[in-house]
Amino acid sequence: MNKRMISGIKPTGSVTLGNYIGALKQFIRYQDEYEMFIFLADLHALTLPIDANELKENARNLLAIYLACGLNPEKVVIFRQSDVPEHAELGYVMCCNSYMGELQRMTQYKDKVQNIKSDNIPTGIFIYPTLMAADIILYQANYVPVGIDQKQHVELARDLVIRFNHRYGDTFVLPEPVLSKQGAKIYSLLNPTKKMSKSESEKGTIYLLEDLKITRKKIMSAVTDSDNEVRYDVINKPGISNLLVIMSELTNRSIEDLEKEYATGGYGNFKKAVADVVCNELEKLQNKVNEIKNSDLIDKILAEGAIKASKIAKDTLREVYSKIGLR
Ligand code: TRP
Repeated sequence: MNKRMISGIKPTGSVTLGNYIGALKQFIRYQDEYEMFIFLADLHALTLPIDANELKENARNLLAIYLACGLNPEKVVIFRQSDVPEHAELGYVMCCNSYMGELQRMTQYKDKVQNIKSDNIPTGIFIYPTLMAADIILYQANYVPVGIDQKQHVELARDLVIRFNHRYGDTFVLPEPVLSKQGAKIYSLLNPTKKMSKSESEKGTIYLLEDLKITRKKIMSAVTDSDNEVRYDVINKPGISNLLVIMSELTNRSIEDLEKEYATGGYGNFKKAVADVVCNELEKLQNKVNEIKNSDLIDKILAEGAIKASKIAKDTLREVYSKIGLR
């Protein structure tokens, strides 16, 4: 049996071209190596205020994008966190086994609190890691692929497992963080030394599901230097280098090859070629996403996923409740 891996994807924003090239495509390859569980972390999306319709739409779009990129429901158990109430139940138990001090030390919590301009800090962002721990250990997962920002949360999950197993007897598998495979890093089109992200700038960020006329405009307005030579040089030509990387990733052609082809002809001509490649890729992806969203595939996958996930989750929670003296 392959080792088990679990990951939650949080439906809080729109997926960018940077996510697509840097993380999503790499992430999907895990499905061939592990017994994999992937869930829409919709309970986690509630930790900061979010509009109900936006949450629903984000969740459907996110799942459709993963499927369009090749996530295979025959290989992976795909489900929605809120369809399996054991997440919230075990989350509460984990909350009761955690300490304020260890949660206060979480750097993501500290960062988020700093950005909240009011005295009303939602309790949800404080106890977030206890729910995340429950997500993982409910399935007795061996591995959790994470970006560096989530590693500390998995380490907390490990501490909670060790504590629980010590208090109540061996119950949970000790999960391990796996630093997720990273593809090329994509930078903002307007500020090519900053990572492409919504918080950096909207106009410097390409969203997978945006109107392609806007995509083209963003690429044509990408910030570059002024010497008009298409050459990879991150220090002196971050803008052009970023466009070269985007094009190379989407065409599977080498940077050198692209440099040769676009050496003459200037930036306008090169940007137009980049725009053609990106728009072509996104058009194919958007067509697939729409096809998926217009079918009953998502509902079917989620219904089947909920059944498979629930079975495992129920077994774990039954054992936990019995060990701690409930039921
Ligand atoms: N916290 C993760 C994030 O912000 C999402 C997540 C929730 C998760 N539960 C998880 C990831 C369990 C891995 C395992 O991206």
